[in-house]
This record gives sequence, C-alpha cells and structure tokens, in this order.
Amino acid sequence: MRDLRVGVIGYGLRSGLVRLAHRPGAGSALAGICDPRAERREQAVANLGAGVVVVETVEDLLGLDLDAVFVLSPDHLHEEHAVAVLEAGAAAYLEKPMAITTAGCDRILATAARTGSKVYVGHNMRHMPVVAEMRRLVVEGAIGSVKAVWCRHFVGHGGDFYFKDWHAERAKSTGLLLQKGAHDIDVIHWLAGGYSRSVSAIGTLAVYGGLPHDGPGGYLPSTGWNAHALTTWPPAAQTGINPAADVEDLSMMLMTLDNGVLASYQQCHFTPDYWRSYTVIGDAGRLECFGNGPGGEIRVWNSRKAGYAEADLVVPIPAAEGGHGGADPSIVDEFLGYVRDGGETLTSVVAAREAVAAGYAGTQSLRSGGRPVAIAPPSSPR
Ligand SMILES: NC(=O)c1ccc[n+]([C@@H]2O[C@H](COP(=O)([O-])OP(=O)(O)OC[C@H]3O[C@@H](n4cnc5c(N)ncnc54)[C@H](O)[C@@H]3O)[C@@H](O)[C@H]2O)c1
Repeated sequence: MRDLRVGVIGYGLRSGLVRLAHRPGAGSALAGICDPRAERREQAVANLGAGVVVVETVEDLLGLDLDAVFVLSPDHLHEEHAVAVLEAGAAAYLEKPMAITTAGCDRILATAARTGSKVYVGHNMRHMPVVAEMRRLVVEGAIGSVKAVWCRHFVGHGGDFYFKDWHAERAKSTGLLLQKGAHDIDVIHWLAGGYSRSVSAIGTLAVYGGLPHDGPGGYLPSTGWNAHALTTWPPAAQTGINPAADVEDLSMMLMTLDNGVLASYQQCHFTPDYWRSYTVIGDAGRLECFGNGPGGEIRVWNSRKAGYAEADLVVPIPAAEGGHGGADPSIVDEFLGYVRDGGETLTSVVAAREAVAAGYAGTQSLRSGGRPVAIAPPSSPR
C-alpha cells in the first residue's frame, strides 16, 4: 500500500492532528507544511525534525503532488484554502467551521461536486464518547421520538481562548455563535435527525467588552493550551483582549428544524467551568448528560415519576485515548480511510454546511433584534 502524501495548511494550536496523520509505511506520510509565519514553521521543524518540508504559501504546498491536505488555518481562510485544495485535485480535511458564511460553504460544496475531489469536515464531536452514547440511546429508542434538544455551553476559558486572537473579530469568525457553536449545532442536528430552517437569537458582549482592549491581537503564541492563563478569575480580571474584539460573549438561539423538532443552544464565555450540558426530550422519555468525559454519565428517564427522581438508566461516559476525548485520533483515521476507500463517514459535509448556516443565520438574527431568520437548504447535490 502506497502512503498517501499529506499536506498541512496552518501549523497552529490544531497542529496536534499532524502527528496523528504522519504514519510512514502505514498508509500516510507528511509531505509538507505551509504556514506564512516563521515562528510556526520553526515550531514545525522543532516538533517534527529537520527533514520536514516547510513552505510559506499554499501555492508552494499544492505543488508537492499531494493526495490529501489538512486545512487547519483560521476560519475565514477555510473557503479560499478548501477551494484551492479541491481545484488542485487533492482531498480536503477542513477544520470546523466549514467556512464563516453559508455562501462560503455552498461554494466549497459546488467546487467539490464539479472537481470530484473529496471534502471532509472535522466535526470531531461526533466521535466523542459522550455524543456517540447520546446518539446511540436516541437511535435505539430509549426516549421515543425526539421532539426537543437543549444545549447549554459553558465556555469557561472563553476569555483566554476566544477574546485575545482572531476568534474575537467578526471579519475572521462571523461570531462565536457560529465559530464555537458549529460543533454543538451539528450535534443538535444529529441528535434531532433534522436541520434548522428558521432560527432567532439574542446575544451581547456582556463582560469582555468593558475591559481594556490592550492585547496585541493576531495570533496567540504556539506554546499550547496550558500557556493561555487558564487561572484568570474573575472574568473581569482578564487582560490582553484583542483591540479589534467585536463578537458576543453571551448568546442564546432558538431553532426550528425541518422535521418539527425544536432546539435551543446557549453559549457563555465567562463561566467558571467548561463543559456542555445536553438534554434531549422525546415523546417517551428524556436524557441528560452530566459531564462530558470519564466520570460523567448520561441519565435516562423513561417511566413516569413523582417529582425529581432517580434515572431509569445511567450510562457512564466511556474513556478513550487521545485529544478531545479520543475524538481526534478517530477523526483523522476516518478522514484518511475516506480518502483511500471512500464510503460512509460519521461526519457529513452537508451537515457541516447546515451547522454553519444555522450559526450564520443566528448571528444575523442576534445583530438585528432577534428576528427569525429563514435558512434555505443547500442546492449542491453532495
Ligand atoms: N475541532 C476542534 O475541536 C477544534 C479545536 C480548535 C480549533 N479548531 C479549528 O481549527 C482551525 C485552526 O485553529 P487554531 O486554534 O489551530 O488556530 P491558530 O491561530 O492557533 O493557528 C492557525 C495557523 O494558521 C496559520 N495561517 C494563517 N494564515 C495562513 C495562510 N494564509 N496559509 C497557511 N496558514 C495560515 C497561522 O499562522 C497559524 O499558525 C480553526 O478553524 C479552528 O476553528 C477546531
């Protein structure tokens, strides 16, 4: 079996995926990394050895005769980079969100349909054990037919991770309801078995807007997750806010899906804790997750109770090796297998588009007084 020649666009925080894809002699090998910033190229050489090919431009990278490219650049560049990769005849792995506008996603889908190149979006949450278990319970009928999905997203490190660099700028992310929410909107759609066709949202910049915008903006140092002062408390003690920060730190969206399911997604960037609370209500029970990883559990109530009561079924959240609760190794495996053999994947590019479409429409709604915004389905056949 010949190794797939793998390229990488953007060697930042998400560069952890690169090691997972570099398996010389076992199906895939790194052929080159592109990043316009010298610091990131040096980091790649330090991490991967002097033999690694590093280039400054996407054009130079795509000249390396690649089979597959991981697009790990900031969100606003996904559309441009995806189109370039697909036009070059390579398969594209796009980090979520697929793009920062619905039109951008549709352009990627249309390019993939025209060129025949494969495109895949790294919605790794579908591979997280907590999500996989909730989905299994729903599919097995543990709560009957789903009628409502509620997700509360407590982004405890919001000030550290989303208000200092490019994430905080509308021009580069549209907003955090889309940027961060794309993960959960996709999960909500998956659990509900439908896609949002109308959304309305409210939101505000409740905490970080009032702090000094005294940071450098741009990119965070590439020294990893723990370097970003995760101890700052209370949120008003945060420093280094991006001078160009103009996205919301609090948002709440209501969604009407094409199959009649109603959903809500709420996101807050200044909570003390970081996790997602999901509730799924069917016509014969409900489930709720308590925690998102090992030690946490999913509780299912599906018989009549008086008041607050013990669950009928408790499913522990399984442990898994690797980043994002084991989801990162599994999503890299899925992408490389798809490039090589095709076939079904747990993730879906149409679903990735629909997650962006809901987040984009929700952002339009929250910036225009909460009016309902309709979402058209994609026209592309893929
Ligand atoms: N799936 C997940 O759980 C998850 C987690 C974190 C980030 N992400 C997504 O991954 C992507 C990357 O995020 P990150 O946190 O690693 O960002 P980052 O800012 O740490 O890294 C982005 C890298 O892209 C490089 N870059 C900028 N312009 C470029 C260009 N024109 N060509 C090539 N490279 C360019 C930057 O120099 C930087 O090194 C984003 O889309 C983000 O939303 C997904």
